[in-house]
Amino acid sequence: MGIRIIGTGYYVPPFIATNEDFTKIVDTSDEWIVTRTGIKQRHIVTDDTFVWQMGAKAAEMALADAGLSADDIDLVIGTTCTPDYLTPSLACLVANGIGAKKPACVELNSACAGFVYALDMAKRYLSDPEYQNVLIVSSEMLSKMTDYSDRSTCVLFGDGAGAAVLTKSDAPFFSELGSDPTGGHSLFARGVAPGMNPFRNAPFDPMADGFAETAPHKLHQDGREVYKFATRAMPGAVEAACRKAGIAPQELDWIFSHQANRRILETAAKNLKVSLDRFYINIEEYGNMSSACIPVCLAQAQRAGRLERGQKLCAVGFGGGLVYAAAVFEW
Ligand code: ACO
Repeated sequence: MGIRIIGTGYYVPPFIATNEDFTKIVDTSDEWIVTRTGIKQRHIVTDDTFVWQMGAKAAEMALADAGLSADDIDLVIGTTCTPDYLTPSLACLVANGIGAKKPACVELNSACAGFVYALDMAKRYLSDPEYQNVLIVSSEMLSKMTDYSDRSTCVLFGDGAGAAVLTKSDAPFFSELGSDPTGGHSLFARGVAPGMNPFRNAPFDPMADGFAETAPHKLHQDGREVYKFATRAMPGAVEAACRKAGIAPQELDWIFSHQANRRILETAAKNLKVSLDRFYINIEEYGNMSSACIPVCLAQAQRAGRLERGQKLCAVGFGGGLVYAAAVFEW
């Protein structure tokens, strides 16, 4: 029992911020950003667009690609770490936006690994006779939690959304999910602050370690720690998922990885003994769009004619939590 992706879609906002633009905001240079990250530009929302609206646009494209209507969808999984609302969820807002009448809706926050966690979740639902089609929508507006006075993080992130429609299939699917929850403080953004209430004592804050003073709701990252985690966990997850699938990483046709840093991809390619050509890379133009990176890459690869049915794909993500996830499946 497996899954097949039968439709993909994506949306990015029209405004492009180049590295040159960032030299006017913080003490940085195009040379530093390109050599340390591989990023040249990123798309950023500059108007009152909501996260769910980007997601709905990507979802409509994916549904049209699949040849399905919104009512054919039994479950919407929304992935985001930058939701418009704590409730209703991204999934409910997108379902409403695309005119779906009564799908099951759930939001999943596994930071940049969200899309791969959602693939795994979709596979488990699709093994149930009640579910035929699942829509995954990954929409992220990192710009709203980016601290534009912090040069070590602000140059990394972009906004955008990707979507995929999945259906039941006998095509194989294998996954490896995991975490290092002790690394939570290496990458975090605070949620809603606790309000005053008459019963409240000062709570223990696991994120206070090393970050006593933090800007509310802004993303804080210990880049070196996350880099070390990513270069270890990402290839490890690919290897583990391949082992379950009974193939070697070198047999994969494509690896669709989270796009956090080109150097992380280069290191992973070397460790996995896989040519970098097998990694689909768009970080140069889009930066890190968290959980939207992988579905945007998939949608673009499909439209560029790079994917053929039957190819062996691996999707692999890592990020805040710290979490990682890899899935090996057939296109
Ligand atoms: N321009 C110029 N100099 C800079 C910039 C910048 N934009 N940013 C940092 N520097 C400086 C630092 O201040 C430091 O200077 P110092 O040596 O004088 O102190 C120097 O460059 C080196 O800093 P490092 O942090 O060691 O730089 P590094 O090579 O590690 O690159 C980066 C930083 C790009 C953040 C890298 O660590 C990285 O990619 N980490 C992983 C990020 C990631 O994978 N995130 C994933 C999840 S994101 C999510 O979940 C939403």
